[in-house]
Amino acid sequence: MNTPTFPKHDPATADFWDVRYREQFSPWDAGGVPASLKRWAAAEPAPRSVLIPGCGSAWEVEFFAALGWPVLAIDFSPAAVEAARRTLGPLADKVVQADFFGGTFTPASFDLIYERAFLCALPRRLWSDWAARCHALLKPTGRLVGFFYDDDSERGPPFGLRAGELADLMRDRFTLESASTPTDSIEVFRGKETWRVWRRIDR
Ligand SMILES: C[S@@+](CC[C@H](N)C(=O)[O-])C[C@H]1O[C@@H](n2cnc3c(N)ncnc32)[C@H](O)[C@@H]1O
Repeated sequence: MNTPTFPKHDPATADFWDVRYREQFSPWDAGGVPASLKRWAAAEPAPRSVLIPGCGSAWEVEFFAALGWPVLAIDFSPAAVEAARRTLGPLADKVVQADFFGGTFTPASFDLIYERAFLCALPRRLWSDWAARCHALLKPTGRLVGFFYDDDSERGPPFGLRAGELADLMRDRFTLESASTPTDSIEVFRGKETWRVWRRIDR
């Protein structure tokens, strides 16, 4: 795919993402529900309340809803929210336009936060706030599950995790329960992403 030229925006702003969704340029979009999530959720014994921050097209909403899990997907880009709502039809109200860092969510209100291509969309200066916010929004023994992108490059998005960086971010907040290599990564993430399940530490 040729990369269109976009105006210079900070990826920490909604404008950055808005112009890309409006141009239908979203090479990060999996176009469906990743197999690692399906496998993991199938082994969960009970419904979990889920937050999907930076949901983009929000393919996973229908999947969680079909399991009977309460799900809220948020994105601060109006164009992303419109795209998600178009796909979701009757489940459109599960997607809300909100800033992960500024939205008024009740602390400790989710069993799960689902991560896909959100952390790597954030400039590195926001990562510590991201980890703190995930910790604050999860219930005491909640979990953060999803995909984490490794890459040494300075440039992004996607902004990759360097060796030891994720462990530093999670230290004293989350403990790693499991990790595996996805089998169906899309091109931009192939060979560089890991599925991980993190348990919140109640401190
Ligand atoms: C690379 S896209 C990933 C979208 C989706 N998770 C996926 O897997 O296709 C990153 C998304 O995060 C959203 N985003 C970035 N910062 C955000 C913030 N502070 N609050 C809410 N959404 C944000 C962007 O608008 C964009 O839709």
